[in-house]
Amino acid sequence: MLKIAIIGTGWFADKHADLLAARDDVQVVAFLGTSIHKAEKLAQRYAGSQAFDDIEQLLDTCKPDAVYINVPPMAHGPIEEAILARNLPFLVEKPIGLDMQTVDRIQQLVESKQIITSVGYHIRYTDAAQTARKLLETRKVGMAVGGWMGQMPGVPWWRKQGGSGGQFVEQTTHIVDLVRYLVGEVEEVYAAYAQRHMHTSHEGVEVADVGAVTLKLANGAIASLTNTCILPFGHRSGLELFTDQGVLEIQQSQYLKHHEGSLITEYKDNANPYERETDAFLYAIKTGDRSRILTDYTDAAVTLRITLAALASSQSGLPIKLGTK
Ligand SMILES: NC(=O)c1ccc[n+]([C@@H]2O[C@H](COP(=O)([O-])OP(=O)(O)OC[C@H]3O[C@@H](n4cnc5c(N)ncnc54)[C@H](O)[C@@H]3O)[C@@H](O)[C@H]2O)c1
Repeated sequence: MLKIAIIGTGWFADKHADLLAARDDVQVVAFLGTSIHKAEKLAQRYAGSQAFDDIEQLLDTCKPDAVYINVPPMAHGPIEEAILARNLPFLVEKPIGLDMQTVDRIQQLVESKQIITSVGYHIRYTDAAQTARKLLETRKVGMAVGGWMGQMPGVPWWRKQGGSGGQFVEQTTHIVDLVRYLVGEVEEVYAAYAQRHMHTSHEGVEVADVGAVTLKLANGAIASLTNTCILPFGHRSGLELFTDQGVLEIQQSQYLKHHEGSLITEYKDNANPYERETDAFLYAIKTGDRSRILTDYTDAAVTLRITLAALASSQSGLPIKLGTK
C-alpha cells in the first residue's frame, strides 16, 4: 500500500484525492492546507488521513511514499523543495510555477536526484490525443489553430497577475502542451493581449481577458492560439490540426474528429484521462518504469517557458525567440 500526501485543499486536491481513494493500492494519509481548519475539513472525508498546515511536519509525521501538489501557480517552490529534500516522487498540477528561476532550480534537483515526477497535462492521456498521434504518423501538419474560450474561474488568485500568471499561463497551457505533444517544439512566440471587460465588471481583475498568440515551430509549422475569459459560460477549448489529408479536431476530454471533406470520423474519449495519469505515476513508483508517464517536470518546464514568453511578448510588443535556457 503506497502512502500518498496531498498538498492543497481546493478543487483539484479533492479531485485527485477522490481518484486515489477509489484505488485499493494506495492510502491518502495527509492533507496540507494554508490553514489547519481547511486541511481538517478535507481530511475528515478520507478515512485514516491527517491534517497539517506545515509541510515539514506532514512529511516527518506521515512519511508518505509520494506527494500530489495541487496549489495555485504562485505557491510553487518551497513545497517542491521540501519534498525533494526527502527524495520523494511527486505529481504536480500545471502550471508548475510562475518564474523560470525557481522552476530551473527545482528541475536541476529533480534531474540530479532522478526523482519520478508527473505533471497534470491530462489531455495527453485522452483517447483523442493518443489517436491523433497515431494518425499523425502518416500526415503532415501545416498549422494548428486552437485555444481556450470561456469564463473566468471564480477563485480569487486567478484574476491576479502574480497569482495565476494569466489565462495563457494557467489554462491555455494545456493547448500549448498539446501543440508540443502533437506537432513539435516551439521556437518563437508573439502575443497580443488586452483587458476588454472583466476588469470593469469584477473587483481586482489584473489579468488580460482576451489574447492571441502566434507560435513558430522548429519544424516549420505554425500555431495560432487564442483565449478569452470574457464569456459567461465555457464555450470550447481544443485544437484543430490542418494536415495534408484533412483536419484533426480535438475538443478537450470529449472527442477527436477527423474531417476529410464530407467524411467525418469521430473517436470518442472513453477513459478518464486523470485515472490514466495517476495509474502511470503509481506504476512508475512501484516498478521504476517511467515509460507510461507522458509528461514530467523537465518537459512541463518547456511549456511554462513558452507561456511566460507569450506574456513577455504581450508586454513588450515584440516577438520572442526561445533559445535553449
Ligand atoms: N489538470 C487540470 O485539469 C486542472 C484542473 C483544475 C485545476 N488544475 C490546477 O490545480 C491547481 C490548483 O487549482 P484548484 O482549482 O484546486 O484551486 P483552488 O483555489 O480550488 O485550490 C487551491 C488550494 O491550494 C491551497 N494553497 C495555496 N497555497 C498553498 C500552500 N503554500 N500550501 C498549501 N496549500 C496551498 C489553497 O488554500 C487552496 O486550498 C492549479 O494550478 C490549477 O491550474 C488543474
